[in-house]
Amino acid sequence: MKSDSLHIDGLDMTALPLHIAVIMDGNGRWAQKKFLNRVKGHEKGSDTVRMVVRSCREIGISYLTLYAFSTENWQRPKAEVAALMILLKKFLVSERQEMVVNNIRFNVIGEQERLPEDVQKEIQRTKDATKSNNGMHLNLALSYGSRSEIVLATKQIAKEVQAGRLLPDAITEEIITAHLYTSDIPDPELLIRTSGEMRISNFLLWQIAYSEIAVTDTLWPDFTRNELIQILKEYQGRDRRFGRV
Ligand code: IPE
Ligand code: IPE
Ligand code: MG
Repeated sequence: MKSDSLHIDGLDMTALPLHIAVIMDGNGRWAQKKFLNRVKGHEKGSDTVRMVVRSCREIGISYLTLYAFSTENWQRPKAEVAALMILLKKFLVSERQEMVVNNIRFNVIGEQERLPEDVQKEIQRTKDATKSNNGMHLNLALSYGSRSEIVLATKQIAKEVQAGRLLPDAITEEIITAHLYTSDIPDPELLIRTSGEMRISNFLLWQIAYSEIAVTDTLWPDFTRNELIQILKEYQGRDRRFGRV
């Protein structure tokens, strides 16, 4: 499982992104195309989550952040939200041991307190079981919204100013970064979105300032390890200028 022992044709294992973020989209359309209930799409999509976590770990990615449920997704029909929460719980229980064995550290970004209590419990168990792991950091974005994350950070910073611990002029980009859910995670170099939508949907707005964006038409349940590798190759061919010449 060590990254330096893995060879993938055409992929430079020394120039991988440290952090990949993924907007896993298209489960509903995958099901609709097959005249199935949307929930079937989410079920198939959770198999893709397993595959992508495994693949990223094998390839040697250090941080993987998966957008699984947005603050806006609470507005979906009750039955769909409930099915997603059940799937999430199943995922946490069934993958916990594999995360432990594969040295994956699990974390959640988002409004954890809004999730059902049984899900919160499984999240805590998974975090505890994997807390000394350092092979790959897996972050699930759950009830996550970037704007709400920035509001939360702003409130915390305002309180520090009010308490006299921080001067307004001392607020820097680093201080804002330090108050986000992702404070101890480097910004993603690569953002992938499946299902062809050319939008960010309130995901990591601050953190993706200079991320390379890869959008594929493939629906999330159909996304493969091979396509992930193709996207990584394409990423390695890009010229990242960061505003310079
Ligand atoms: C992504 O698939 C999963 C979640 C947002 C929870 P969608 O459910 O958004 O699938 P589409 O976009 O309707 O096809
Ligand atoms: C973004 O997908 C959120 C997740 C993948 C969890 P959505 O399907 O909710 O986003 P929109 O509605 O296409 O913007
Ligand atoms: Mg969608």
